[in-house]
Amino acid sequence: MKTPPFLLMRRHIFKFLRSLSARLHLLQTRMGAWWGGTSLTVGRGVRFYQRTRVSGEGSVRIGRRVTLGYPIGGGFHGSCCELQARSPDAEIALGDFVAVNNGFLVISVKRVEIGDGCLIGKGVQILDFDAHGVAPEERRTSIGRIAPVVLGKNVWVGNGAILLKGTHIGDNSIVAAGAVVPGGDFPADVIIGGNPARIIGDVRRERKETTHNANTFAQEGAVKKTEKKR
Ligand SMILES: CC(C)(COP(=O)(O)OP(=O)(O)OC[C@H]1O[C@@H](n2cnc3c(N)ncnc32)[C@H](O)[C@@H]1OP(=O)(O)O)[C@@H](O)C(=O)NCCC(=O)NCCS
Repeated sequence: MKTPPFLLMRRHIFKFLRSLSARLHLLQTRMGAWWGGTSLTVGRGVRFYQRTRVSGEGSVRIGRRVTLGYPIGGGFHGSCCELQARSPDAEIALGDFVAVNNGFLVISVKRVEIGDGCLIGKGVQILDFDAHGVAPEERRTSIGRIAPVVLGKNVWVGNGAILLKGTHIGDNSIVAAGAVVPGGDFPADVIIGGNPARIIGDVRRERKETTHNANTFAQEGAVKKTEKKR
């Protein structure tokens, strides 16, 4: 069936408004970073669909074609993304083609590195330090232990996961929804989940059939496309 012209027009208007708001968010972020003294580098084709706050005295590097915020990811209007490079030494680096859902929080005093092509779920938090000393007398005098967090390429972090200091995740691995990763080295191609997180699976394993898996959706999409062409 042919799409009515007014629906097509509405689609174009939405697309235009979304792209305009992404550019305004980027401008707002750049101004905030400049005002707060954060060194911010943004690659080509980056889109800030959600309001994003970059702050701190450190540096934030965002690679090419990165997106922050996802209009249908949930909580789009009620949250924002925050990248805090709190100390002068702090470095936050997002590789090329990273896609971030809503309400992402990174707080760094050393280094948080997210590899090319990573997918970051809604409400994910990454911290490379504890923020308080463990000993009772050090709670307000120390920022606790510090260790960089590094995600390899193409890592998928599920909704609500929390990655703490010293976490290293290998290429293609998955951090399951709600995982709390208290640091440690995890290899490539594994699934990490639970609290405290441990390896719970392998991304290459044969998966059980579900009523609606990706292939079913892909097939349905293909059928719709062929119907449209007719
Ligand atoms: C990690 C994930 C992809 C695994 O999917 P899967 O391979 O189909 O896993 P299964 O459902 O077959 O479960 C395998 C095992 O892992 C466990 N498991 C699955 N998800 C888990 C989670 N989030 N936390 C802890 N354990 C989990 C299951 O209980 C099961 O354990 P068992 O073998 O002892 O029975 C999925 O569970 C997940 O967390 N998806 C993230 C969804 C999300 O946040 N999307 C965000 C959009 S950006």
